[in-house]
Amino acid sequence: MAHAAVIAAVAGHLPPRVVTNHELAEQYDTTDEWIRTRTGITRRHRVDPGMATSDLAAEAARHALENSGEDGADLVIVATTTPDRPCPATAPTVAAKLGLVGVPAYDVAAVCTGFLYALHSAACAVRTGFARRALVVGAEAFSTLLDPADRTTGVIFGDGAGAVLLRAGDSGEPGALDSFDLGSDGTMADLITVRSGGSEEHALRGRPTGGPATDAYFRMDGKPVFMAAVRHMTHSARRVLHDTGWSIEDVDHLVGHQANTRILRAVAEKLGLPSQRALINIDRVGNTAAASIPLALAHGQADGRLRKGDRVLLSAFGGGATWGATTLTWPDLPVL
Ligand code: UT7
Repeated sequence: MAHAAVIAAVAGHLPPRVVTNHELAEQYDTTDEWIRTRTGITRRHRVDPGMATSDLAAEAARHALENSGEDGADLVIVATTTPDRPCPATAPTVAAKLGLVGVPAYDVAAVCTGFLYALHSAACAVRTGFARRALVVGAEAFSTLLDPADRTTGVIFGDGAGAVLLRAGDSGEPGALDSFDLGSDGTMADLITVRSGGSEEHALRGRPTGGPATDAYFRMDGKPVFMAAVRHMTHSARRVLHDTGWSIEDVDHLVGHQANTRILRAVAEKLGLPSQRALINIDRVGNTAAASIPLALAHGQADGRLRKGDRVLLSAFGGGATWGATTLTWPDLPVL
């Protein structure tokens, strides 16, 4: 059998502070009803001052290591849109918090697709023998990017982290990651942005005609993003199902990026999957961007929705634009 990277453990971590829709209705011109019916969200978690993305990431990674019974990893990849700082990367900080000084550690920036990009990178490293045990973490302190005057993004996003530990194994065993579909379309870069803080800001200042004003807050053009998310998550899922040799009837769970319950239902419908097979945890965590898929996996494992032998389809769409999908048979994981 061919070498493959296999999921050995999964874990999530949420900051303790819960923010309900009712609380947000005091801050923005919005209602609990609008948020629930348009997004499916009822609450989300938010970091308190003093808590950074690396703190959330290290907690999730620590739990994943504990669940696996392993004492360390030889590769750490962190997918995030909210790094601790623009430079240096957050992953070495996370590795150091875990006592893993000396291991390769780097960040992946693909916004809501970031976890799948990072998972692919780690799976290749494990499959080729570069790493024996790889930690892949999706972590966001997304609330730190939100404009207090923007009710649309203000009600959607939440903070949190999810992590998986990959180990070396064989293709075909439960938990093995074999096929990935990943893609991007940079012509859609303006749909999801944080404009300031990069070289473009300086480049625009130097142009005679100027350019779009720079802005330190997260901006999203919701409607076209919604439509692009449905289209690309569906197409990417179809391509990876084809590569894996599964038909849609084989899929027990669609674990999609938790951007909006309506997006997940639309993707399920377009794929021909009963909507109850779309695993949903956005109701209690909001959109946690790069943390969303590993958090959904951790919650699905903890509450028994994901069971050994279930066939799982992962699919995401995010800023860039980026998208990706993969499949796996759910392994027999310890629940601690
Ligand atoms: O994570 C990366 C990927 N992200 C996504 O995939 C998000 C994709 N987009 C979405 O999920 C949805 O587009 C949103 C949830 C962002 C918005 O939902 P929508 O159904 O597309 O609403 P809309 O933008 O068409 O706005 C409808 C109305 C507008 O009012 P008018 O113009 O009809 O009077 C908005 O001003 O809803 C209004 N609105 C709100 N009302 C109450 C927008 N945000 C709010 C709010 N509370 N928080």
